[in-house]
Amino acid sequence: MSNPSLLILPGDGIGPEVMAEVRKIIDWYGAKRDLAFDVSEDLVGGAAYDKHGTPLHDDTMAKAQTVDAVLLGAVGGPKYDNLDFSVKPERGLLRLRKEMDLFANLRPAQCFDALADFSSLKKDVVAGLDIMIVRELTSGIYFGEPRGIIEEGNERVGINTQRYTESEIDRVARSAFELAMKRGKKLCSMEKANVMESGILWREVVTEVGKEYPEVELSHMYADAGAMQLCRWPKQFDVIVTDNLFGDLLSDAAAMLTGSLGMLPSASLGQPMENGRPKALYEPVHGSAPDIAGQGKANPIACILSFAMALRYSFDMGEEADRLEKAVEQVLADGKRTADLLGEEGVTPVSTSEMGDAVVAALDASL
Ligand code: IPM
Ligand code: MG
Repeated sequence: MSNPSLLILPGDGIGPEVMAEVRKIIDWYGAKRDLAFDVSEDLVGGAAYDKHGTPLHDDTMAKAQTVDAVLLGAVGGPKYDNLDFSVKPERGLLRLRKEMDLFANLRPAQCFDALADFSSLKKDVVAGLDIMIVRELTSGIYFGEPRGIIEEGNERVGINTQRYTESEIDRVARSAFELAMKRGKKLCSMEKANVMESGILWREVVTEVGKEYPEVELSHMYADAGAMQLCRWPKQFDVIVTDNLFGDLLSDAAAMLTGSLGMLPSASLGQPMENGRPKALYEPVHGSAPDIAGQGKANPIACILSFAMALRYSFDMGEEADRLEKAVEQVLADGKRTADLLGEEGVTPVSTSEMGDAVVAALDASL
């Protein structure tokens, strides 16, 4: 059987430097665990725009459709702020999500013991936190038509449309129930059924799918109340399922509960391909952080943990994913901290690449 294939798209800002650390991890698996990957690399976002005048070249899009998994760093930066909307770096990422039909975006928010003091919330509120947000990623207001800025009378009107079909809700709900079955068997669905028809339909379809998962305790919450509960007592949640826009907001809020955006990975999954693996893209939740790019300050852990998610969800290598996650935990327990996590006493400041090396050393020690 041929090696599993990976397409690496480092992107912009800190993307390339955090991805360089992931390459060390991938190489380690090839050398020490006999898990070789066929890795190719290409451009996305501003980097692709600079070279091709588009944030995602058609050839790169085609390549992404054929590989077993795509790993993406980050896109965007101030240099591209004034570009036309259609060629902004973010459009490259949105095109990948849409054309690969990556409808289920898994965003875990896990609080590492060593970092519990780092949260802006009290330690007992976040210590041991382990929740999973499943965000619908290919529909809703991000893609709904009509959209645009039109003239109406003597002023302009900005229009976006929230739109969900039953099948779109059904499939993401199923992904969330399946995950809940493998975790704490609790699922909370969030929408705004009190003001939005799309929310009413969302609630009905999720409830219907729930009948097929009697073991999962299903609850519903308005998304604003959900935001409030996430800050008040996040440990009440196990899996949360929500739409594209609410998921964007709620996952940033959940991420910050854990202390650092630099720690959180994500997986975006679509339908199974011929080989049974799902279409998949893995990326850190953080952005391109142009203010610290190129200074060795970036935390590579979110990107490294995104690769761990690839091991788990694309390659069915749960034990190797556990190994990598434990290695990261060990490095943090040893007091190694990148610039985003400094502040406590008795910790050792490390650069982006020293953090990558430390994770590799911890992987070595795991053998
Ligand atoms: C995210 C980001 C993206 C989004 C941007 C970069 C288009 O905020 O992945 O959460 O809004 O989905
Ligand atoms: Mg976001």
